[in-house]
Amino acid sequence: MSKFSLSTPIYYVNDRPHIGTAYTTLIADSIARYRRMKGDEVFFLTGTDENSQKNLEAAEKRGFTDLKKYLDEMAAAWQTAWDTLGLTHDAFIRTTENRHLVGVKKFFDLIHKKGDVYKSTYEGYYCDGCEAFITESDLVDGKCPVHNKTSRIIAEENYFFRLTNYRDALLEHIEKHPEFIQPQSRRNEIVSYIKDFMKDVSISRQKKTAHCGIDFPLDADQVIYVWFDALINYLSALGYGSDEKLFKKWWPMDLHIVGKDILKFHAALWPAMLMSAGFPLPKAVFAHGFFTVNGEKMSKSLGNVVDPVELVQLYPLDAVRYFLLSEIKFGEDGDFSLTRLKERYESEIANTLGNLVHRALSMTEQYCDSRVPPASGASEGLDPLCEIDIWRAYNEYMDSYRFQEAVRVVWGVIRGANQFIEQEKPWSLYKENKIQRLNDVLYNVLETLRQVGWFLLPLMPDTAEKMWQGLGLDPALEKAQSLELAQVWGRLKPRTKINKGGPLFPKEK
Ligand code: MSP
Repeated sequence: MSKFSLSTPIYYVNDRPHIGTAYTTLIADSIARYRRMKGDEVFFLTGTDENSQKNLEAAEKRGFTDLKKYLDEMAAAWQTAWDTLGLTHDAFIRTTENRHLVGVKKFFDLIHKKGDVYKSTYEGYYCDGCEAFITESDLVDGKCPVHNKTSRIIAEENYFFRLTNYRDALLEHIEKHPEFIQPQSRRNEIVSYIKDFMKDVSISRQKKTAHCGIDFPLDADQVIYVWFDALINYLSALGYGSDEKLFKKWWPMDLHIVGKDILKFHAALWPAMLMSAGFPLPKAVFAHGFFTVNGEKMSKSLGNVVDPVELVQLYPLDAVRYFLLSEIKFGEDGDFSLTRLKERYESEIANTLGNLVHRALSMTEQYCDSRVPPASGASEGLDPLCEIDIWRAYNEYMDSYRFQEAVRVVWGVIRGANQFIEQEKPWSLYKENKIQRLNDVLYNVLETLRQVGWFLLPLMPDTAEKMWQGLGLDPALEKAQSLELAQVWGRLKPRTKINKGGPLFPKEK
């Protein structure tokens, strides 16, 4: 059995999840589900980044005097939100957990012993929004472009990590492993940063300016800089320092999914930290783009933050998944709008997919006594609506994280089946008593629906199961088959009793 491990960023808990963090996590969930569907053993990790000033400020703003209480409440809120969104992560790490602290200390010792930590004074730009020291090259009109805030210049005596020791090794790794930074369009930006701008980074903050964080092992007056501790979550969550067997099994991870805002941390600092400590590097880091909302940057001050939990009260969860997976090309920026969601929900989901399922099952009920008809295979010109080359395209797109294209392939099959029904007119075949052709036509559509259920399993998992139930199949048994078998045309057994049920997607939204 192959293995596949993947992670999302760990999120700050200064607020609840929004459509951006939900996007990253839903995509990761679809990848995890796809890998499981292929038979891989999967480890899907997410969590919360808790040793941050931002969280402390949010706690104070909300009147909490006990930071731990605030963090516990917020971490639980994130977990509940992810449960509401049906996410299938295998682990959730909080960076205030003991297993993380143990891992961070152990990791720090390694880079310290290697001679990669030194004390010096940092003077430069700091963006409070990023919680990061930033270089002049990052600034646009003197402001951090991500947070549109003027960066402060600060000077502090800190401990530094010799990031620049790894400049050549990083460039060589990126050169040798083109898949390490994805999509390819982002690689140059990282290469130029490493070549021309990368400096050693401060990995501690003085306690007098940073009021929370993990104690710095070498100095009681300092805490570990939050990004340095946060990145180590990818190890500590896998058992580094607490469960070596688990860690050995899952590290290196196959894929870190991140937004473009934090690619530099993941594609330069993190691999350099790992090189220093002597660990193998993750196989790939994929940076996706950002959503605006109705054309504007999402922000609390504009009041346009979209809450994914509220969204799934308005639309079925699978409709939201479908929309997020296919509205923008994974890797590029895009826009979120409720108007687009409504449009696409009505036309592509309710009218195209919902209608196909409804028609196919209604006709089976009406013309075939609610049983899957036998296919004679003798009717001329009736090729299977879903052939192996469609599977090939689907798998290729899913393997390379091109979800928009995978969805296009699946909707091609669904539209093809709707057209086929229009052409063949089962209602006329029934009237004219052309039963063999009627059976062949309906079997073709029903078996296609079974296979479409498989295509949708990682993308719209509830829908996939409901479609199988409609066909009279037990979703647990269907899923227990291997993907190779599932792709074989004709697995739907004639005489299976269907369950028509109500419409899959309500039309009025
Ligand atoms: N805590 C750090 C990550 C540490 S990982 C070791 C952090 N947290 S965050 O809460 O700010 O989350 C940032 C991530 O949220 C982005 O990288 C991206 O995955 C997601 N998004 C935040 N806003 C987004 C959009 N508007 N659009 C798409 N994704 C967005 O950074």
